Amino acid sequence: MTITTPATTTHNSPQRDSLSANTAQAKTVLMCRPDHFTVSYRINPWMFPENPTDQSLAARQWQTLYDTYIRLGFDVQLIDPLLGLPDMVYAANGGFVLDGIAYEAKFRYPERQPEGPAYLAHLARLGFDAREAVENNEGEGDFLLVGDVILAAHGFRSESDSHREIAEVFGREVISLKLINPSFYHLDTALAVLDDQTIAYLPSAFDDASRAILEQRYPDAIIASEEDAAVLGLNLFSDGLNVVMAEQAHTLRVELQARGYETHTVDLSELLLGGGGVKCCTLELRT
Ligand code: ARG
Repeated sequence: MTITTPATTTHNSPQRDSLSANTAQAKTVLMCRPDHFTVSYRINPWMFPENPTDQSLAARQWQTLYDTYIRLGFDVQLIDPLLGLPDMVYAANGGFVLDGIAYEAKFRYPERQPEGPAYLAHLARLGFDAREAVENNEGEGDFLLVGDVILAAHGFRSESDSHREIAEVFGREVISLKLINPSFYHLDTALAVLDDQTIAYLPSAFDDASRAILEQRYPDAIIASEEDAAVLGLNLFSDGLNVVMAEQAHTLRVELQARGYETHTVDLSELLLGGGGVKCCTLELRT
C-alpha cells in the first residue's frame, strides 16, 4: 500500500550522480542515558530476561556513541531517563520529529507505553509542535525519512493505520512496508538511510510486495547480508557522509566505504541484549 498525501505525486527513483561527493548535513539528535537499562521483560527475540545485563558496560558503550556524535559536530540533546523504563535508552522510538512537529509514539506493549507521553512532553518543552497519536506507532523505529518521503513499517509494532495518521500530520508521501521477520521487528533494524536518496536494507525482512516497492524506488540500494543485519549493522545513523555503525558489521562497512561514506564504528553489544543498536539510541530532531 502506498499512501500519498496530500496529492498524488509521481516520483522517479532518484539516481545517484556517481560524480557527486557525499556531503554531511548538520544533525540534531535526542538521546537518553541508559541509567536504568536492563532486560526485565521480553518483547522481541533478542531479549532474554534470565540473562544478566551489565549497566555500567551499557553506560560506557553508550558514552562512546555520544562522544562519536559530539566529535562529528552533532548537536546532541538529552532526555532524563525514568526509573522503571529500561528501554527508554532507545530514543528512536520516542516519536517522529520533522518540520518542527513532534508526532507522539504510542507503544504496542504496556511495558513501554509511558515512554510516549514522556518523550512528547520533553519535545514540547524543546519547542516542537507536539501532536498526540491516536494510532499505535513506535516513532523512528518504524518511520524513516528518505529525502522527502517517509518509509513506514507495520507488521510487528506500528499499526498500518498510523501510516495514514503520519501522512496527515506531516503532509508527506508515506510508503507502507511490511516487516515479516520477528528478529527485525522495527524498520530501523532492517533498513538504513544513508542520505536523501540512498538506503541499505535486508530484503528477506520484508514481504514480497514491500520488496518490490523497494527494488523499484531504490535500484541503487545497498543490499545487506544476513550476517551484517544479525548484528544490527543496518541500525546505523548517517549524516550523509559520516556513518556511525556497529563495528561487528564488517561487510556492510566495506561496502559503505566503497560508496564514499566515512564509517565510524562503535560496540554497543550490551544494548544489543535489548534488541537495539546505534539508530535505536538516536532520535533525529528536524526543525
Ligand atoms: N527492547 C526494545 C523494544 O523491543 C528495543 C527497541 C529498539 N529500538 C529500535 N528503534 N529498533 O522495544
